[in-house]
Amino acid sequence: MESPTEASSEAPGRRGAAARCWRVVRASDGSVRGGVAAWYRDAHDESAAASDVLVRVEAAGFNYKDALACTGHPGVMRVTPLVPGIDAAGTLVGAAAGLPDGAPVVVTGNQMGETRDGGFATHLRMPAAAVLPRPAGLSAAEAMALGTAGLTALLACDRLDRLVDQRHARTDEEWLVTGASGGVGMLAVACLAASGRRVVACTRKPAAAAALAALGAAAVAAPEELVDSSPKSLASGRWGGVVDTVGGRLLADVLRSVRTGGAVAAIGMAGGSDLPTTVHPFILRGVTLAGIDAATQPTQAERLVLWSRLAALWPRLRDRFPVVRLPLDAVGQRAAALLRGETIGRAVVIPDL
Ligand SMILES: NC(=O)c1ccc[n+]([C@@H]2O[C@H](COP(=O)([O-])OP(=O)(O)OC[C@H]3O[C@@H](n4cnc5c(N)ncnc54)[C@H](OP(=O)(O)O)[C@@H]3O)[C@@H](O)[C@H]2O)c1
Repeated sequence: MESPTEASSEAPGRRGAAARCWRVVRASDGSVRGGVAAWYRDAHDESAAASDVLVRVEAAGFNYKDALACTGHPGVMRVTPLVPGIDAAGTLVGAAAGLPDGAPVVVTGNQMGETRDGGFATHLRMPAAAVLPRPAGLSAAEAMALGTAGLTALLACDRLDRLVDQRHARTDEEWLVTGASGGVGMLAVACLAASGRRVVACTRKPAAAAALAALGAAAVAAPEELVDSSPKSLASGRWGGVVDTVGGRLLADVLRSVRTGGAVAAIGMAGGSDLPTTVHPFILRGVTLAGIDAATQPTQAERLVLWSRLAALWPRLRDRFPVVRLPLDAVGQRAAALLRGETIGRAVVIPDL
């Protein structure tokens, strides 16, 4: 395997320009270090398939999973060294995947940033089948403000639409989004509000309230104000649908407050992966707990449709959704802040910034 220090700093297709990445390395003693390094063609598959395409990355979304990869979490960082980044947008270098040279593209999931190098780089090599045309109307940075967070929010909202039993709906029914100040949380608030739901945003951060209201939240409150954490196995049924990005104790408490025939989309585990609950919400209220896995569930054809829906939603978000742009050398700091739960909205890494 080519080592980072031996790597060429000459980017294919960009003569003379330095090809760089943010790379994390796990040493044999288990210690992990990350930083900006020269990008090299392919660390993990020296016989890269002939179908691999090269993307000049203009922007990469910053997800919770990427923060875990940056700190060497073994469940995400499956190879060393690794360039994190599960989302990227840019342009094709050379014609490929039925698209011409220079075509605007997006790539998400497909093991990038986990078992193969991802988007925190000026360049990305991926199988042709993983690359999708970027919807007209979305710049690379705009597409990455949405990224996997946007795809996940849409998948959760669609799933709840199918599952929530409307026969038991109340007038002015409320739907809940937890971890609402995060990337997925804010986009879930926006998706639900756009489809006419009365959304309550649950966040620990008062500083996120104005942005959440602008995105369509009817109310914004802290977990302790919204969730009955008494030891009863059922609390008063309030929520028709819930998008949960937090997991753990909060998800267990929320499940007790879902009304008859309601449903919860479980997305994340920022607050823990245990689920200390009982069967009562399920067998006494017919509540559904539905898992969302944006990495493996949608086919490429479904992703194309989701991307066109995100592009249609974007004008509603453009001036309201907090998005920061970061250079490669700010990746480590952002990862630490995100894992401490201090960030609001999304960050987009701009490798040439
Ligand atoms: N299933 C899927 O396909 C899929 C796809 C994308 C993301 N995810 C998962 O969804 C979650 C959110 O991802 P994201 O990219 O939106 O991350 P993010 O921007 O960091 O948002 C996570 C939010 O969770 C809350 N949070 C963080 N730490 C917490 C803690 N210790 N206790 C309680 N709440 C905490 C915070 O919201 P408040 O401060 O507002 O409460 C934070 O803003 C992550 O667990 C991620 O892995 C899953």
